[in-house]
Amino acid sequence: MHRARVAFVFFLLACSAVAMARSVWEGVFTKEQAARGLATYGEECQKCHGENLGGGESGPPMVGDEFLSKWNGKTVADLFAVTRKTMPMDDPGSLGSREYADLVAYILSGNGFPAGQKELDRDAAALAEIRIERKP
Ligand code: HEC
Repeated sequence: MHRARVAFVFFLLACSAVAMARSVWEGVFTKEQAARGLATYGEECQKCHGENLGGGESGPPMVGDEFLSKWNGKTVADLFAVTRKTMPMDDPGSLGSREYADLVAYILSGNGFPAGQKELDRDAAALAEIRIERKP
């Protein structure tokens, strides 16, 4: 019984995700949030991923063609999950969910996606509604 109810909730979530699908071109984070992400990036990520997300000796770039082709068509929830579960590589999951959301906002900003009025959520279901698209 309980399992059926859980399945039904997921079914509803899936429907609303389709109905409300948005893209990273619609301003899904704020400038302030990306700036906070930049600050955290400098402390936690830059030593491996390099300045301005450009890649370094111990981490791949998170801007540019290769990165975007890899993530094109996936959702911001996917990027958030990878970041939260596996990064920073030397201490995965060590940051708060708000910091991870800020970092994802900074990564999106670095890839040229526009800022908007509302901060990027840290709720996986909300993030699953936002598609990463290379071109608008
Ligand atoms: C100790 C080095 C190190 C640190 C610190 C680190 N990373 Fe990474 N990161 C890596 C490596 C290596 C990979 C590639 C892993 C792979 O391909 O399996 C990676 C991959 C990633 C990816 C996936 C990239 C892609 O091409 O899909 C993201 C996103 C990411 N890191 C974000 C971060 C963020 C955000 C931080 C800071 C909180 C961080 N990383 C800190 C080493 C690091």
